[in-house]
Amino acid sequence: MAILHGGQLSRVAKQYQIPEKEWVDLSTGIAPFSYPIPNIPAHIWQDLPTISQGLVNAAKAYYQAQYCWPLAGSQQLIEKLPELWNYKVAELNKTPLKDMHAYLPKVGYKEHQQAWSKAGYQLHFYQQSLPSEIQKNSVVVVINPNNPLTDAFTIDQLKKCQELCTQQQALLIIDEAFADVFEPEFSFISHLADLNDITYQEHRLDQIRANVIVLRSVGKFFGLAGLRIGFVCSSQAWCETIQENIGPWSINGPALFITEQALKDKTWQVTQKMRLQQQSKAMRTILKTHFVGARIEANALFITVFLNQAADVYHQLCKQGIYVRLTDENDSLRFGIANETQLKKLKLALIKVMSY
Ligand SMILES: Cc1ncc(COP(=O)(O)O)c(C=O)c1O
Repeated sequence: MAILHGGQLSRVAKQYQIPEKEWVDLSTGIAPFSYPIPNIPAHIWQDLPTISQGLVNAAKAYYQAQYCWPLAGSQQLIEKLPELWNYKVAELNKTPLKDMHAYLPKVGYKEHQQAWSKAGYQLHFYQQSLPSEIQKNSVVVVINPNNPLTDAFTIDQLKKCQELCTQQQALLIIDEAFADVFEPEFSFISHLADLNDITYQEHRLDQIRANVIVLRSVGKFFGLAGLRIGFVCSSQAWCETIQENIGPWSINGPALFITEQALKDKTWQVTQKMRLQQQSKAMRTILKTHFVGARIEANALFITVFLNQAADVYHQLCKQGIYVRLTDENDSLRFGIANETQLKKLKLALIKVMSY
């Protein structure tokens, strides 16, 4: 069954009978300020798309990665990983395994769960701390920072988990879709280089140590979710496997062209980080005023407000033309960051909603 995400405004607009253009859509964690679309030369539209060394180098520099490869959104690999991992496990054990296990955050982007469940894996859910015991050849998924909870594991916690995965010949997937607004030290990508070094020094460990996949999304921080592009950062061996298995033209030429410019544009990135942080802070102040005493967790791409009557407040906000994300647990509302105009409308709507 298709999972319901934020976005898809037309569905909500129809339900509440408010024309789409009148809504303030804060239902996703996509930045409200987008990277400006440059002029795209005609040949980019005409030619078959090619993943250039220029793009790969720009991504390596931006993510500070030794090896990375573009994807048609990180979602593309989320769906593909079970097949690739099953193949690798069969290779490791010289035969496919019957009982396969995946460890996932209890709350988080549900597409991971769906992918492993569809592949027949037994699912185990963790909360707050990463699993301390896992089955051989299993899969551990970490969403860092978590969407919608915003909490994040430290590099030390992730390293411990990676050690455990190494012992158990398991796959560690770290989904960093919302990590761009943090400092580079936040990301596990810089630690992949250590693992890769070990791979080359001690060939025996090749199959095991380097089983860490970091997923990055371009759409969120750059405000261009429609481009459908993301990256995987991993060992060289995994990058090659992924490259061989996702086919040649899954990302269109204009998306590749725009992304290369965006990843190289440091000035824009610094401005973007600053204004997202400012807007998030301003929005947090407003939300705190209206949801007095509620737990509010925030980063520079979204804010989650925990409420006893989250579903009711969601409905009241929709009636005011404000579309936020009611989380799957029905215990909180996730607000994407609003631009100035949207913030004014949100403030007015909150006054009305909270006076009921
Ligand atoms: C945590 C997380 N990971 C991955 C994705 C997929 O993003 P994309 O395919 O645009 O890179 C999303 C989308 O909302 C997400 O929230």
